[in-house]
Amino acid sequence: MSNHDLDIPVVDLEALDSPQTERRREALDAILRGFGHYGLMYIRNHDVDIDLVDAFYDAFLEFTERPEPDKQELSRGDLWYQRGWTPPNTEEAVVAGQPDFKECYFASPGEAGDKLRAEFPEIYAENIWPDEAEAFRDRYLEVGRQLQRVGVALLRGCARALELEAPALERLVADGPHVTRALRYVPLDDDQVGSDILWGEEHTDFNCLTILPGGRFLDTDNNRTDKPDEDAGLYLRTRPTEEHPEGRKIQGQTPDDCIIAQVGQQLEVLTGGKFLATPHVVEAPDATGYSRVSMAHFVHMNARETVFPLESFCTDEAAARYGPPVKAGTYNRKTLVDIGLAPDESLDRLGYTQYSRLDSMREAEDNAAE
Ligand SMILES: [Fe+2]
Repeated sequence: MSNHDLDIPVVDLEALDSPQTERRREALDAILRGFGHYGLMYIRNHDVDIDLVDAFYDAFLEFTERPEPDKQELSRGDLWYQRGWTPPNTEEAVVAGQPDFKECYFASPGEAGDKLRAEFPEIYAENIWPDEAEAFRDRYLEVGRQLQRVGVALLRGCARALELEAPALERLVADGPHVTRALRYVPLDDDQVGSDILWGEEHTDFNCLTILPGGRFLDTDNNRTDKPDEDAGLYLRTRPTEEHPEGRKIQGQTPDDCIIAQVGQQLEVLTGGKFLATPHVVEAPDATGYSRVSMAHFVHMNARETVFPLESFCTDEAAARYGPPVKAGTYNRKTLVDIGLAPDESLDRLGYTQYSRLDSMREAEDNAAE
């Protein structure tokens, strides 16, 4: 499982706006190759303050050390865990269904209008924060905003690479329920090491675009450490080909100064499969006691926009594969049920929910007749 022979492209974010045609073309080609074949690429000149990301991890680790009952107070099943703390063993991957060995925090760097919150209360909920955690909150929001800017710039580049109008994709994510997730993969105990337990089961992200600024491994004292073994960490699966119908599973090895961007399901659908959502998995280390912190920023389509191939990608085949069209807010709701974060009953909100009115009117009619 090595990717030395596979060449995941590096995209220079600054080059996307370069006045030099050649430099720009090169960056656009890298997007087509990266998102078209791997569903993933590395981003250089991203303008994300990595020292700030590091400082955020320090604050996040302090939070994770708080007593469990304090963290439970920030665990919001009623918000489908889209804000605050998610305990380990809550979320499961759709395909294999093994609960994940991670605790998470969710916060949104965006400020969606009240109207969207009224329509989609869980995914546009206000942030919630632990007491006395100003550094945690401020660093969290600033990193989230920086990662969001990368996502939007990249979507502009994607639109150009796909020969769409430059704002075609950016427009669809304006006021989206973007969310930044901080993760701590929890240590395995003696019995678990060497089993087939994963830190993160293989899955594809359901949002539009995911930006990953990199994480750190920690030893038993929470000190930063090198990778505990060669095989631990993030793997992705490439697009299936005739030669490799199962795709190729390759290990992410981010070049210095780069961060990662990966395609989510919504972008795959919008492009009719031209860009492919990357299946990825996080392998646990083969040693006890090690943990890892990382973060992911999820750029989402606006909940009112429609998840369906854009006109230029909407062949009959794409329409059949990705239909029927569905609002992004509904798509999120369904997926959050599938991965165990939203309750099954939340699907009862779809369709007409006012049938009881007729019953109460009939009751009133009977009462009047008596
Ligand atoms: Fe993921």
